Amino acid sequence: MYCRGFRVLVMCGIVGIIGNSENGIEEPMHSLKRLEYRGYDSFGFATNNGFLEKRVGNIGDFDASGLGTASRVFICHTRWSTHGAVTEANAHPHLSCDGEIAIVHNGIIENYQELKKELEEKGHRFRSETDSEVIAHFFEQALSENMSIEEAVPEFMQRTKGTFAALMIRKGEDRIYAMKRDSPLVLGLLENGFMLASDIYAFSDRTNRAVFFGDDEFAVVGVDGYEFFDSRGRRLDKEIQDFEWSRENETKENYEHFMMKEIMEQPEACRRLIKSLQSTQKEKIERLKDMIVGAKNVMFVSGGTSYHASLLGVYLLKQAGINTQSVIASEFQNYAMPDRDTVVIAITQSGETMDVIEALKYVKNRGSRIVSIVNVPYSTIQRMSELSVEVMAGQEVCVAATKSFTNQVTLLLYLASMFGFETDIERMPDEISETIRLNEEKIKKLASELCGRNDIYVIGRGLSYPVAREIALKIKEISYIHAEGMMGGELKHGTIALIEKGTPVISLISNNNYDMLSNTKEVESRGARIITASNSNEADLKIPSNDNGKFGILATVLGQMLAYYMALEKGLPIDRPRNLAKSVTVK
Ligand code: F6R
Repeated sequence: MYCRGFRVLVMCGIVGIIGNSENGIEEPMHSLKRLEYRGYDSFGFATNNGFLEKRVGNIGDFDASGLGTASRVFICHTRWSTHGAVTEANAHPHLSCDGEIAIVHNGIIENYQELKKELEEKGHRFRSETDSEVIAHFFEQALSENMSIEEAVPEFMQRTKGTFAALMIRKGEDRIYAMKRDSPLVLGLLENGFMLASDIYAFSDRTNRAVFFGDDEFAVVGVDGYEFFDSRGRRLDKEIQDFEWSRENETKENYEHFMMKEIMEQPEACRRLIKSLQSTQKEKIERLKDMIVGAKNVMFVSGGTSYHASLLGVYLLKQAGINTQSVIASEFQNYAMPDRDTVVIAITQSGETMDVIEALKYVKNRGSRIVSIVNVPYSTIQRMSELSVEVMAGQEVCVAATKSFTNQVTLLLYLASMFGFETDIERMPDEISETIRLNEEKIKKLASELCGRNDIYVIGRGLSYPVAREIALKIKEISYIHAEGMMGGELKHGTIALIEKGTPVISLISNNNYDMLSNTKEVESRGARIITASNSNEADLKIPSNDNGKFGILATVLGQMLAYYMALEKGLPIDRPRNLAKSVTVK
């Protein structure tokens, strides 16, 4: 979306339900709430009997029972935007001028201004500032020119630049039209109808059968069946996939927030992953090892927290004599030149991050092989990969990644150990529990001391450098405190000028690393408030393992908890921090 000259980036969740009997809004809202982690600024829904409701805010607290809406066909939307107004007018669904067509959209119609101008010249009036609204008017125009929706979709796909997962309904018609390019879309087969959604989590509590949309495909879904077409309107035979998805993580249980629940789940999630690498995923991880051995170059591509995991992967594999590099997804095309002899390993929790998808398209064009390390099965990135190893962290509901990071790094540590890196990985789950037990009370005290600060520095070297960045990211996104995670060796090249009396510096020192000890002294002598995290007995935060390979995970768990408790002290919305969304499906 664009607004007053600014580009309004939107990541959203969409849901469409069609059933053979009338249902209340509760059922679609239940599914939409399951997608709320994809966006939570505003939401809305429409039915094929003309009901339209749009609201600003979280769906979480919305009680739909009083609305008394009943219908066989619903489309719903939960929205996330960065720049520009979060208003009811900009919330989806959007209607055509006559109100006969309603649409919901995830993605960006890049040439919407050109399309909007043409449609306005033909008399269409727009009610919102969004790019998405052009979809409703485009099809209204096509209908007025005696085309059917099915006939107009190929033209829409041809005319439109950008990305879309869009659902469209018409008043009085028991059908949902669904179109997809780049943004994810899947059809779930329910007992008494169908659901269309951004991801399988919308309906994974109701069915384990789904049909995944490919790019530039569209479907017409009725009460009794569905048909898929390609961008030229030719019928497609699509495979129904049976998927498995654990339901263990759907409630907060006794925790106040999903984030703490997910931090506490880490030992179990890690145990599950290690077990799978020794059994159900053994063949896959061995194939990955063989691919690395056979490749001339190995590159990681990922973003955010997953990028920090990839940096740890580069470090751990290097210790085992394997040369790899990691290039951040949003800059991949500017900095990386993979070729036919390159294996590119994407690391991603969601499997839907647009920057990673774009990088992989580039990689594919250059003829490299694609592997992925993913958490969400059946995700776009998993389906783009020749080989995909799952991190088995289970559903992660909190926007901030915790257990998925731990399992990504565990998987990379396991991989490094297959190349000879020495680590006692089996003890990791217990050591995570021990790290939490040993430090939780100290972290709570530290959190109340630090939560009022404006800046926190986190420093590390080698293995602890990516951890420093990850801890700083967690502090920023959850506690809204400016934090910088950096290489201890880089302090002297500028940042040390910012150290004043009392400036908090968290120093990550693995195995008494001499250079880290000196960097710590350098800032301490300038008055910094030093907090050490290390496996030495004198550490402020104690890591109960001398195994260098595990330091990265155990120190990160401490940082996750510090960020959590600082945010708790500040009364912040921990599971849904402002301006963020879990699946970053825009560039
Ligand atoms: C931070 C966080 C994000 C994600 C990033 C990549 O806590 O969750 O930085 O790590 O958006 O997402 P995935 O791993 O889904 O590709």
